[in-house]
Amino acid sequence: MATFQTLPGFREFYPEDLARRNHIFRLWRQTAKTFGFAEYDAPVLEPLDLYKAKSGEEIEAQLFSFTDKGGREVALRPEMTPTVCRLVGAKANALKRPIKWFSIAEFYRYERMQKGRGRCFFQFNADIFGEPGPEAEVELIALLVQCLRSFGLGEADFYVRLSDRNLWFYYLEALGVDEPRIRGLLGAIDRYEKYGDDAFQGYTEKFGPLDPALKTKVLEFLQIKSLAVLETTLSTIGGEKLTQRLADWRKLLTALDAMGLSKFIEVDLGVVRGLAYYTGFVFEAFDRKGELRALAGGGRYDDLVQKLGGPALPAVGFAIGDMTFSLLLEERGLMPTLVQAPDVYCVVGGEPERLAAFADINALRAAGYQVEYPMKAIAFGKQFKAAAESGAKLALIYGGDELAKGVVKIRDLTTRTETEVPRDQVTATVRDFFTAS
Ligand code: HAM
Repeated sequence: MATFQTLPGFREFYPEDLARRNHIFRLWRQTAKTFGFAEYDAPVLEPLDLYKAKSGEEIEAQLFSFTDKGGREVALRPEMTPTVCRLVGAKANALKRPIKWFSIAEFYRYERMQKGRGRCFFQFNADIFGEPGPEAEVELIALLVQCLRSFGLGEADFYVRLSDRNLWFYYLEALGVDEPRIRGLLGAIDRYEKYGDDAFQGYTEKFGPLDPALKTKVLEFLQIKSLAVLETTLSTIGGEKLTQRLADWRKLLTALDAMGLSKFIEVDLGVVRGLAYYTGFVFEAFDRKGELRALAGGGRYDDLVQKLGGPALPAVGFAIGDMTFSLLLEERGLMPTLVQAPDVYCVVGGEPERLAAFADINALRAAGYQVEYPMKAIAFGKQFKAAAESGAKLALIYGGDELAKGVVKIRDLTTRTETEVPRDQVTATVRDFFTAS
């Protein structure tokens, strides 16, 4: 018989897997709320044009796209950013500023599969609209760090690499490089860490040999790891744009320092991000050991809302993926074992006792307690074993003798003590027990 398997790169979530996923989502959601972000959602299927030329060549090549029955070119969303720009753009004037939004959703990219990368994955997206200054980056980087810290991860586990596409632009402009070549060089810089000198191949194919003096300057700039060195390097160039930009850098780093987050942040101009729409500060989070692919990535994209038909609206945001993040939590022993144990297990004698128990079972469930009972008549002894194995705190025992006396026996499965309770006081007694414990 043919067996059907999931498509490559797609995941199934058995209950224990889903419990872990829910645990992650719960903490992300809770953290976003403490920062005052509001949750939104949107369709999984979008017009193909939303991503064409907006997300960048890499994502475009990875789209799951098809023509629907109405002849529309559609795609499963590979990311949230263009979608959230449309949502915000459509109501920009009616929305209270600053617009701080988050979502937890599933995305699809036809990627080469590897550790921490699949073809469907979840992301936590957080974005701020309407704030042109680095104050928005402060808020978002702080949120990113807190989203990871809230699971017990610390500075020894992860860090955020901070860079700036504007600074690269202004620097290369000052060196006399024109815009198409700057874009070509940024593409090479994006790949440099992985491919070394080969990263410049695409550039040389398009623009001819790279001037060795310029290459040296680019590689020197790439190595800069602190604001102090950045300032010294740029002081020889000067100019208003660079001076203003360095002031933004100081503002951002000073604020993050005041929040006690400096230990998580590293200046690293090697990060320029592959997505096409980023315009300013960009950042990515990685595990400290450098064993995993990026945990999160984001940056400023001041032109995208307008490019998608909305008003001019500055924006910054980031997304954390669930796959590398889960790997990191598991590696560090921070993924809790989540067992779903009932609060109460009912042990029932025979059919009349079962019917008597049903009234209490229903009342207890309505009161919010998780209650289990054996679906079929099984021996008393086996039921006690099942009650102990279930992890329940209490067993309610509905035997013939008890019912004849108008009582139910309640056993504390931790202390193994028993009390008899009048039938009409079962729910109240269980409630008192859980309130006290
Ligand atoms: P991104 O860097 O493409 O950015 O993705 C963000 C994170 O999503 C990555 O760091 C990674 O953890 C996860 N991710 C991406 N692709 C995969 C995959 N194939 N399998 C597993 N995880 C993956 C964006 O998507 C931007 N839209 C983020 C953003 C929001 N920028 C501004 N606002």
